[in-house]
Amino acid sequence: MARIFITGSSDGLGLRSARTLAQRGHDVYLHARNNQRAQDARTACPEAKDVFVADLTSTEETKSLATQLNQTGPWDAIVHNAGLMNGVSHLKGKEGLPALFAVNTLAPYILSSLVDPPPKRLVFVSSGMHHGGDASLRNIQEAGYSDTKLHNVLLAFWFARKFGDRGVLSNALNPGWVATKMGGSNAPDNLDAAVDTYVLLAEGSGAAEGKTGGFWYQTRARTSKGPGRETSYEKSAEDEARQNKLVEILARISDVKPPQ
Ligand SMILES: NC(=O)c1ccc[n+]([C@@H]2O[C@H](COP(=O)([O-])OP(=O)(O)OC[C@H]3O[C@@H](n4cnc5c(N)ncnc54)[C@H](OP(=O)(O)O)[C@@H]3O)[C@@H](O)[C@H]2O)c1
Repeated sequence: MARIFITGSSDGLGLRSARTLAQRGHDVYLHARNNQRAQDARTACPEAKDVFVADLTSTEETKSLATQLNQTGPWDAIVHNAGLMNGVSHLKGKEGLPALFAVNTLAPYILSSLVDPPPKRLVFVSSGMHHGGDASLRNIQEAGYSDTKLHNVLLAFWFARKFGDRGVLSNALNPGWVATKMGGSNAPDNLDAAVDTYVLLAEGSGAAEGKTGGFWYQTRARTSKGPGRETSYEKSAEDEARQNKLVEILARISDVKPPQ
């Protein structure tokens, strides 16, 4: 049995994965942006152990979430799932940071850096759209969705290197285009297979056992090898200098030092 925390688990893939992981006997902790959404999450997943509240558009609330996680840990897995996509270009968090950048890029960096000891497994939820991301890392706070999803892969690979000698497994995941609030009702890919891939990486089981620094995608057909497989990703994400540069920028913006 593992202790697993999933960001953005009041809805969509985070909630569905939380339910499945709880049904599989794990201690699952949810996360929601405010008290109302926390109550919604509790109702939707009553098997969960608890719900943490933090609006990830706020770096202060994200840091405070890390403190709460440290009081409840150590963690077997943290899944960086919370994400924003459409209609948020005008939105800013409480400290004035663009919401898309704060939720999709900065929050996973802050939590992965401040949760101590690091979880045994880190999962960064990216997207196929990371292929269109801007690898230059210029004007990072103005990043669009694709840019932030490339950041997620860069972070997964940076933390795989950083924590490798401590046995931490860090991977990125593309759930496919699936029917959630974000994906829309006409999304063509298999939602259950996406959830199965979250489960695989959160448990570190099946094809994901012992694997780090990978980019994972669902398989539609469930084979004896399990529901997920490693797949190709944008090669610029392998560039260690680029990974380092991203972490330096995020450290400066958040005032959170990267783990040593
Ligand atoms: N669905 C797809 O086709 C697809 C494809 C590729 C990648 N992804 C990735 O998969 C992940 C999950 O997406 P989804 O499809 O499940 O989206 P979703 O249904 O919109 O769920 C997103 C979750 O993130 C939470 N969230 C958003 N902003 C937050 C904030 N400021 N503070 C705290 N929580 C916040 C949402 O809370 P509320 O419920 O309160 O809004 C919700 O629980 C994302 O990282 C997304 O980029 C999805």
